[in-house]
Amino acid sequence: MTMDKMISGPVTSSACGPIKGRVTVPGDKSISHRSLILGSLAIGQTRVSGLLEGEDVLATAEAMRKLGAQVEKQDSGDWIVNGVGVGSLSEPDSVLDMGNSGTAARLLMGLVASAPFNSFFSGDASLHKRPMKRVATPLTQMGATITSRSGDRFPLCVTGRDLMPITYELPVASAQVKSCILLAALDTPGITTVIEPKPTRDHTENMLRHFGAEISVETAEDGARTISYQGQQELTAADIIVPGDPSSAAFLAVAAAIIPGSHIVIENVGVNPLRDGLFETLGQMGADLTITNLREQGGEQVGDIEIHGGLLKGVTVPPERAISMIDEYPVLFVAAAFAHGTTTMRGLEELRVKESDRIAVMAEGLKACGVKLEELDDGLIIHGRAVPPKGGATVETHLDHRIAMSFLVMGMGSEEPITVDDGSVMETSFPGFSSLMNSIGANIQQGRSS
Ligand code: S3P
Repeated sequence: MTMDKMISGPVTSSACGPIKGRVTVPGDKSISHRSLILGSLAIGQTRVSGLLEGEDVLATAEAMRKLGAQVEKQDSGDWIVNGVGVGSLSEPDSVLDMGNSGTAARLLMGLVASAPFNSFFSGDASLHKRPMKRVATPLTQMGATITSRSGDRFPLCVTGRDLMPITYELPVASAQVKSCILLAALDTPGITTVIEPKPTRDHTENMLRHFGAEISVETAEDGARTISYQGQQELTAADIIVPGDPSSAAFLAVAAAIIPGSHIVIENVGVNPLRDGLFETLGQMGADLTITNLREQGGEQVGDIEIHGGLLKGVTVPPERAISMIDEYPVLFVAAAFAHGTTTMRGLEELRVKESDRIAVMAEGLKACGVKLEELDDGLIIHGRAVPPKGGATVETHLDHRIAMSFLVMGMGSEEPITVDDGSVMETSFPGFSSLMNSIGANIQQGRSS
């Protein structure tokens, strides 16, 4: 159990001096989920190093065990997955509890759609509000039956059977939907094709290749991708080293960028070009940020990120960049609050259906901290004043880890301390967040400010 787990309840972040140090962040959440899922289908033993041991990924580990795979942590810290082979999942004898994780939910719904049994899914109050029609529609077209609560929400049951391949153009740019269909295709005869008008994170495609599968990806001149997979290929176990999560590194990068005099290096971070939008945007805002030591690791780009704190300026973030930084907007809103001038961020309607409505929840918390902003249907316009925001509020996290961490970062540079009502939600994706931040100079403590 990490310190952050023990400090459930309110957590307060107070102004600190420059942060300094050389750190690593926990493993990438997207890659961790996929390593357990695909490892569970591969023939042989997959060793996963650097797995994110956040609650979201642990929910996937538990589900894969219920579906018949052996998934164990070793004393060395590595995880060992003994796969059952494509098409050999077993019927789970209890509900698959996906906790807070939309990724686990949507990927596993695809995985079990071709398995000839009922899989019952549930999750927490946040997950029960999230839309599942986006995956129910293509899975139903392939032949699975999804029986859900009204509005296509959790809890639900996937009745799997032999599926038909489809060609499906994504109506919403979502790596979860793409991956759901590709996982359903794994044990479906024939060629399943997903067309994505805007490219989304490609970790599933990269990892399928890593496990020896052939997958065809064609990119059109306008950037649209056509991804085709011939079903019923065997997957062969292959070791995986999970890079640090750029979405977690984002909190450290913004903290360093908004506190003058800071200097940190975040080592071994995934910098897949479909995930690096926040770093590009911070650069555009004038942050002194460089990515060095670029290398390839298991089909993924990895590098070290170095940031010096300074004054940021407001920018207009191109809406088409949203997809490559969708999880980073809450903390980018914080950076914008510290910048000189106006930052306009649009094209973000998907933020309204994440773990919380991240536009509304962030707008409310930022306003309570004295930030001037305009809330739009698809984004926020934030008027930064180049002086630290007032802070001094208690913010509700709405079961959303990224809301909690964003406001704790904000407290590090605000005039008055900021409290989040429930620190335990950070366990979802970033175990040890407060301890890591404090080790480089933050002042984040359990409880309310005195
Ligand atoms: C994820 C895809 C994104 C992202 C989520 C992780 C994934 O969701 O927000 O945190 O691992 O595929 P969408 O596919 O809904 O955009």
